[in-house]
Amino acid sequence: MFLNNAWYVAELSSALGTGLVSVRVLGQSLVLYRLSDGSVAALEDACPHRKLPLSMGRRRGDLVECGYHGMTFDAAGRCLRVPGTQPIPETARVRSYPAVERQGFIWVWMGAPERADPATIFDIEHWDHPEWGRTEPDAMVVRCSYLHITDNLLDPTHVAWVHPSSFGDQACEQTPLQTVASSIGVVVSRWMLGVEVAPFYAPYVRFAGRADRQQHYEVRFPSHACIRAVFAPAGSAGTASVEAHPDTFLMDSYNFMTPIDERTTRYFWVQTRNFAPGDAIVSSQFAASVRAAFEEDKVVLEAVQIGIENARSPLQPLFIDAGPARFRRELQRRIEAESNADG
Ligand SMILES: [Fe+2]
Repeated sequence: MFLNNAWYVAELSSALGTGLVSVRVLGQSLVLYRLSDGSVAALEDACPHRKLPLSMGRRRGDLVECGYHGMTFDAAGRCLRVPGTQPIPETARVRSYPAVERQGFIWVWMGAPERADPATIFDIEHWDHPEWGRTEPDAMVVRCSYLHITDNLLDPTHVAWVHPSSFGDQACEQTPLQTVASSIGVVVSRWMLGVEVAPFYAPYVRFAGRADRQQHYEVRFPSHACIRAVFAPAGSAGTASVEAHPDTFLMDSYNFMTPIDERTTRYFWVQTRNFAPGDAIVSSQFAASVRAAFEEDKVVLEAVQIGIENARSPLQPLFIDAGPARFRRELQRRIEAESNADG
């Protein structure tokens, strides 16, 4: 089950050129294409005649022509042409999805179109900030439920075991977590005081010696995360200006999970940082290291999916599951409320 009345990332902006792009979101096939005014159209990827994917057809300006018998549709899903048939049948149409391109991603609204409000799309806070750098948005397919990824992104402890050579260090094993739930999602965070700077961050931190480190893991409904890493000179944690301190390292890792189906997820991400704006070398180093770390997550989460599917005994909950469990409960409540309202 999925939350339908929500925005999901359908594709990277960079993947949408002049052609037709087929994607799967919440078990539905969509065809994306760019209109002549630069905006993006998203249609059900199935011609109503024989259900051939429209993505196998051709662009005709801002229209899409089916590759089987030439039925032609506009960006609103209306059929404008059926070769050999007049008049055009009333029922000859395809579903059109609200689509918005923003900050490197194509977002689609999977619920009732009249409820789609682009103002509720997850904002990448420092995307255009002149003093912040960013990586190129990227993506991978992970063969697990999106909920295993939201669990992982509300679990700051896993870096100690899954990412020991990049994000993790020993302090990540023991320091207790704080969990805060709100109307938009759940935040799990902690400060670790006087720690070494973990390997991923060490080359970029501007001060010598030990650090106060904050892990701030936030996931918003339905499945969108911002993971903030803070490294400040030891002793500055908890001060009001810690994030504004000139030596403080800040990195925001945005993670947007799009369920392809119940057990497959397209995982999109981009990172911003409070230094080296426009530095392509730093950006490509970040991008490569992040991808390598997310490949470590992928190995674990795909095996967890199979492990849970084949479980022969109940899962053993731990204290560290408080944030993920809270998120799952509230999301499930929203999904049920939505399906009751629809039913
Ligand atoms: Fe991870």
